[in-house]
Amino acid sequence: MAPSIIHAFASRVGNLHNHPMHIDILTLFPAMFTGPLTESILKRAQEMGALSVELIDIRAFATDKHRMADDLPYGGGGGMVMKPEPVVAAVETAVPPGAPVVLMSPQGEVFTQAIAQQMAHLERFALLCGHYEGLDERIRELVVTREISIGDYVLTGGEVAAMVIVDAVTRLLPGVLGDPDAPAKDSHASGLLEHPHYTRPPTFRGADVPPVLLSGHKAQIDAWRRRESLRRTWQRRPDLLVSADLSEADRGLLVELAEETIAQRRASST
Ligand code: ADE
Repeated sequence: MAPSIIHAFASRVGNLHNHPMHIDILTLFPAMFTGPLTESILKRAQEMGALSVELIDIRAFATDKHRMADDLPYGGGGGMVMKPEPVVAAVETAVPPGAPVVLMSPQGEVFTQAIAQQMAHLERFALLCGHYEGLDERIRELVVTREISIGDYVLTGGEVAAMVIVDAVTRLLPGVLGDPDAPAKDSHASGLLEHPHYTRPPTFRGADVPPVLLSGHKAQIDAWRRRESLRRTWQRRPDLLVSADLSEADRGLLVELAEETIAQRRASST
């Protein structure tokens, strides 16, 4: 789907801000976004008017006859560097003054659910996708207001990282997910990983759904889910427990889980 059509989805229903959140994506490869933006929940968010996206082709702002967006690095060395003129012209043309311009880069602060929540409250922001070996440092100084990495690994460019941000932010916009409480229950939303999920059939290849989930007893189901959420976090991401929002009851459960682990280790070493 052409970017202009994607953009035209913006309107109607409205979100937190009563109009669509607007995201400008500045990239040398706008076609990379076609799939992610025209399927599933991101497509629906645009159709319902919660999100509008504009893809801005940085190369269209290059003024020389070869439309060069990159050049050799001063000082030598391998790779190419994104030139400042087209990128700065693209930002200054597409993004209104005052709107955040986020550079996707492995040198940025690491993206988290808390940052996604912060960004979901913005009326608009721009994502600038770096490519090649890097971009001319003056771009950072002139137009970038924040720099985000999606993790400690290096991608071929910022495009996939920008898609991650758009996806994580969009699902937090009001009305985008069917269940309005879903974002609050997500792994990471409360600082814990989510409990396991089950659906029909009740027995699959000899494995039963935990009976409490079939009991219809809401309080017991909630207690089971909390316990399993704590167990998952304790087993897989104990680092998250340091800053998670825990009740006295949670702390008691964690002590039990720790004791269980110690007992299991003892049993397996004898
Ligand atoms: N560009 C290249 N690697 C990246 C990363 N890890 N996060 C964001 N942008 C990037």
